[in-house]
Amino acid sequence: MALQYAMDIFSKCYDFKDAETVRKSGFYPYFIPIEENRGSRVVMNGREVIMIGSNNYLGLSMDPRVQEAAKKAVERFGTSCSGSRLINGTFTQHVELENRLARFVGREAALVFTAGYLANLGAISAVLGRKEHVLSDRYNHASIVDGIMLAVGLTGGQVRMHRFHHNNPEHLEKTLAGLPADEPKLIVTDGVFSMEGDIARLPELKKVADRYQARIYLDEAHSLGVLGATGRGIEEHYGGGRYADLLMGTFSKSFGGIGGFVAGDHTVIDYIKHMSRPLIFTASMPPAMLGAVMATLEIIENEPEHTRRLQQIARYMIKEFKALGFKVGVAETPIIPLLIGNNDKTFMFWKALFENGVYANPIVSPAVPPDRSLLRTSYMSIHTDAELDQVLSTCQREGAKLGII
Ligand SMILES: Cc1ncc(COP(=O)(O)O)c(C=O)c1O
Repeated sequence: MALQYAMDIFSKCYDFKDAETVRKSGFYPYFIPIEENRGSRVVMNGREVIMIGSNNYLGLSMDPRVQEAAKKAVERFGTSCSGSRLINGTFTQHVELENRLARFVGREAALVFTAGYLANLGAISAVLGRKEHVLSDRYNHASIVDGIMLAVGLTGGQVRMHRFHHNNPEHLEKTLAGLPADEPKLIVTDGVFSMEGDIARLPELKKVADRYQARIYLDEAHSLGVLGATGRGIEEHYGGGRYADLLMGTFSKSFGGIGGFVAGDHTVIDYIKHMSRPLIFTASMPPAMLGAVMATLEIIENEPEHTRRLQQIARYMIKEFKALGFKVGVAETPIIPLLIGNNDKTFMFWKALFENGVYANPIVSPAVPPDRSLLRTSYMSIHTDAELDQVLSTCQREGAKLGII
């Protein structure tokens, strides 16, 4: 046992027993190492399981072209940029990727960050200032909330945060109506919500935004490569109009890598570039990832069949889960939650599936309210029909045993 002072900052750590208790019960689902990645299947605890818990929606992290591009970039530029974007850490590849991303999402400029999390943290905290308001959907991702918190901290509490009901433009309007007309406002929303798998009502949000002269910040983490006929995301899904003033994306999902970006008007991106602490005070996205993401972008642009297959899988799985009697809420994308509403049962269902060759993600309180605990399933374009049917039959059998269906 480590040294403990009578009054010790680490007391709460020594007192923290929750994880150990669950580990001892045999239902601990976190930090299980993946021993081998075989695309739609992985090896965990020495056994092969079908992976329905990954955000590698287009299966591109295992694509030989992407891997080759990563290797070539390492050979040319090394393993690290060894510095911040601001000073020695901008490589020609960053600039090339930014130009290509801006073209892909139809914006004047883009700015690449080392992670999607940092893109939200960095862009949101940079654009929010004193006596300004941010309106955030209640189900927005933690990285958005943290970006707002950073802005609140940096302005000594002078950024005002307001949360509106999930995907509810009517409540957004009501909230906006109560704010001073002469103070600037930013509306922030996920495009596809990461737990529920539903799509933001963007055209309606935009109408409300225009009425109150508010800007829209859109997180496209789960939409790029997923929504729209050519994978260009939620704006393409809604017919190609321009709804967002700033658009954020991440490379850790459809792009099969790590890193993120924001895109928008040149002047706004230039401002963020010079004001964003999470851009300036960390080392830049490394060469291997820049090479890999550029190869992925090319595949997404030239081979829309991967996105089409993913969309077909999503429709099939939603229909089949509903037919089996599972509650899938408002899912309309390859993120399909199986709503259970009880933490213990969620862990039991997760374990039963895992032992029977299927890996999914249990999401319990406090990540969601206790009555919304769920098994988050997500699909990749590389899943075969046979794998999907095996997932369905395993869920049906184990779900029935636990009284979930
Ligand atoms: C909606 C959303 N935004 C941002 C992020 C952060 O992206 P990354 O994991 O690439 O840092 C995530 C990751 O889960 C996400 O789901």
